[in-house]
Amino acid sequence: MPDLKTTYMGIEMSNPIVIGACSLSKRIDTIKQIEDAGAGGLVIKSLFEEQIQSERGVFEDRLSEYDNMFAEAVTMFPHQEHSGAKEHLYWCKETRKAVNMPLIASLNAINKESWVEYARELEATGVNGLELNFYSPPLDKTVNALEIEKIEVDTLAAVVAVVKIPVSVKLHPFYTSLLNHAQNLTAAGAKSLVLFNRLFEPDIDTSKEVKKATLHLSSASDNRLPMRWTALIHGNTTADIISSTGIMSGKDVVKMILAGAQAVQVSSTIYGNGIGHIRNMLNELQGWMQAHKHPNLADFRGKVAQLRAEDPWHFERGQYIKAILGFD
Ligand SMILES: Cc1cc2nc3c(=O)[nH]c(=O)nc-3n(C[C@H](O)[C@H](O)[C@H](O)COP(=O)(O)O)c2cc1C
Repeated sequence: MPDLKTTYMGIEMSNPIVIGACSLSKRIDTIKQIEDAGAGGLVIKSLFEEQIQSERGVFEDRLSEYDNMFAEAVTMFPHQEHSGAKEHLYWCKETRKAVNMPLIASLNAINKESWVEYARELEATGVNGLELNFYSPPLDKTVNALEIEKIEVDTLAAVVAVVKIPVSVKLHPFYTSLLNHAQNLTAAGAKSLVLFNRLFEPDIDTSKEVKKATLHLSSASDNRLPMRWTALIHGNTTADIISSTGIMSGKDVVKMILAGAQAVQVSSTIYGNGIGHIRNMLNELQGWMQAHKHPNLADFRGKVAQLRAEDPWHFERGQYIKAILGFD
């Protein structure tokens, strides 16, 4: 039987299928089922500082709602504080106790100090690694691309300086010079780059003429973008490339590893096909390896990456020209 073992930012895993950060890690029984179905590891849903801040705001507003309504009562309640990140940290500890597979915590903070503080606290829960979810839409038109990238690199360096567990960075696809940014992040200590996060894409309700937020799951056509960038970045940094978005089947895992991925993250396909689909994907991957006589993942990892192509421009220009010439 072909060997599916891999490492993911230095963490040993039984196979390359990792469940991405999402609400599948909201319940312990689901997490146990994910482990039983054979997942190589799991990223726990993100700790969002913004969510804590907004919940804290609501909490404080509720507590002070009746303040000063009566002359003799300045406040209705004894002093109480919102629990902040405590609930999430407790959740990470409980998850750690419940399963043996590698666990990675995910963090999306706002200020540099809180990135560092929360990173320390997440490490103390016993997780094996930490993923920084660098999703902050650049909505300030006075801030240029370099400034945004510098904040990310500095934040990463500050986190790496205080934790011992490996740190990965989850990126979106919209950087001006992704190869350069990938190298800067690696130099700042990223052990792996997750390519890519799928950003929130609101829709528009044409009957009411308003925006609407719907849960939008990926499909296989979405994996072309991460596949292309996996192939372009593989071998250009020492950080592992973890492909994500639109990976639906065992064949899609094969493609990502051929492109140079160390492992993959999946969410949508598990929402759509159920937890048992992890086993189907593993069987398909193993069946393909057997048919192609690959004893392990290293045997074909990066075989179709850009650096290995005979024509170094193959993944870019050559393919593009061939594709449009044939499209009459
Ligand atoms: C319901 C749901 C919740 C998610 N929550 C998070 C999250 O907390 N943190 C994060 O980094 N990504 C989150 N994601 C994004 C996924 O981790 C993943 O990057 C994205 O869905 C693309 O992978 P996929 O095509 O396999 O779904 C979420 C996705 C879904 C569908």
